[in-house]
Amino acid sequence: MVLPFQPMVTKFETERLFLRMWEETDAHWYSDLMHERGLPKPAIDFTHNKISTFHQDFLKNGLSLLVIERKLEADCIGYCGLVIGRTTLEEPEIAYELFQHAHGNGYATEAAQAIMKIAKATGRKRLWSTVRAWNTASLRVLEKLDFEVQHRTSDEQGEIVWNTFDF
Ligand SMILES: CC(C)(COP(=O)(O)OP(=O)(O)OC[C@H]1O[C@@H](n2cnc3c(N)ncnc32)[C@H](O)[C@@H]1OP(=O)(O)O)[C@@H](O)C(=O)NCCC(=O)NCCS
Repeated sequence: MVLPFQPMVTKFETERLFLRMWEETDAHWYSDLMHERGLPKPAIDFTHNKISTFHQDFLKNGLSLLVIERKLEADCIGYCGLVIGRTTLEEPEIAYELFQHAHGNGYATEAAQAIMKIAKATGRKRLWSTVRAWNTASLRVLEKLDFEVQHRTSDEQGEIVWNTFDF
């Protein structure tokens, strides 16, 4: 299939972070991160499969979540990237999730700024982010990145805020 956009870059560096494609060994910490959400800790096979899906999706649509590694500490603290999510290939969503111990240091904002540059380089004109209305930290990250609230919808789990950024 010929995509109307360039595939996103999957290796990038910021002041404090490396962003990179997933490797098999990431299944271990990814399982811990999923557990931190309050879910039972998934088996490594499960997170291995998730990582395979990320690779397949990237081959199909040129978008992916990327691993966030801290340069100084040389550890993985979560992920940030582009997904179709609730939107479209043309106007994908930016998504991020970090371990709690890493919160509050500006890492999500730093990683998301990098992902926005990467998204622009693919030829995208608009990004979305859909966030639960209770998620103050995530909404604040978007505010810092100059996203604008477009509208709100609701589902069985409550209110969702739809945000956009236009390049
Ligand atoms: C959302 C998330 C990625 C933010 O990561 P982070 O690295 O802490 O984000 P940053 O440090 O770049 O910015 C967070 C901002 O929110 C603010 N914040 C955090 N919690 C807050 C709260 N309860 N009330 C008000 N502001 C809050 C911080 O003060 C900071 O703003 P500031 O720089 O103006 O002080 C992280 O909280 C997370 O992983 N949450 C769980 C997963 C998730 O919700 N993902 C998003 C799904 S849409």
